[in-house]
Amino acid sequence: MLEVKNVAKSFNLKNLDKGKFSVIRDACFNVNSGECVALIGNSGCGKSTLMRMIYGNYVCAVGKIYIDKENILDLKAIEMSILRKQKMGYVSQFLRVLPRVSTIDLVMEPLLDQFESRARAKDIAETLLSRLNLSSKLWHLSPLTFSGGEQQRVNIAIGFSKDYKLLLLDEPTASLDRENKRIVMDMISEKKEKGSAILGIFHDKEVRDKVCDREIDVSNFSAS
Ligand SMILES: Nc1ncnc2c1ncn2[C@@H]1O[C@H](COP(=O)(O)OP(=O)(O)O)[C@@H](O)[C@H]1O
Ligand SMILES: [Mg+2]
Repeated sequence: MLEVKNVAKSFNLKNLDKGKFSVIRDACFNVNSGECVALIGNSGCGKSTLMRMIYGNYVCAVGKIYIDKENILDLKAIEMSILRKQKMGYVSQFLRVLPRVSTIDLVMEPLLDQFESRARAKDIAETLLSRLNLSSKLWHLSPLTFSGGEQQRVNIAIGFSKDYKLLLLDEPTASLDRENKRIVMDMISEKKEKGSAILGIFHDKEVRDKVCDREIDVSNFSAS
């Protein structure tokens, strides 16, 4: 489902002598449907950067990234946006949403985008938010003032509302308590069983051991 081939990344930084700051070189790996693969390696080695390139948030100028056999680096912005909506979920470390949009609407949005009926989208969103122990008092509020753990659970609900072919998870359990962590591990296992390919960054070894089939050490692709 995902194939990363000879990918490199450097950032152009004006206040560096040579102007370029290389992070990754020659990254190669793949993720198949129904498996969960963990990106590991020291903080700062480029795990989140790789994931952002796969989601198209960071430009990738060197190499190829195939999603469902399509090299996303050949896609126009509008085509990439369609591919994301249809095939790719991304739970980032931090919640970034528009102000004044309610939690329930944010979770329903990916479903409505794919022409699910409002009633069914609402049903799925409510079930997910309840499962993640997010009090129904919060459902009609914007999550921007929620606690870190609550925001993370909203992010997870948004990423898990659909059955995406590829799911990218950047430390989804980092600020969760034991009970909610266990629930998220179950949700990841269920997505695998449904055939999603999952690429994750998990600080927590317990989570990795429970849900991941393989690990890829990103420091092997270090450019320094
Ligand atoms: N937008 C950016 N501009 C400049 N440098 C960046 C940017 N994003 C990440 N980096 C740098 O790339 C390196 C890898 O970061 P990151 O991928 O977040 O690491 P990890 O997720 O493995 O902890 C870090 O040194 C970081 O400072
Ligand atoms: Mg990171």
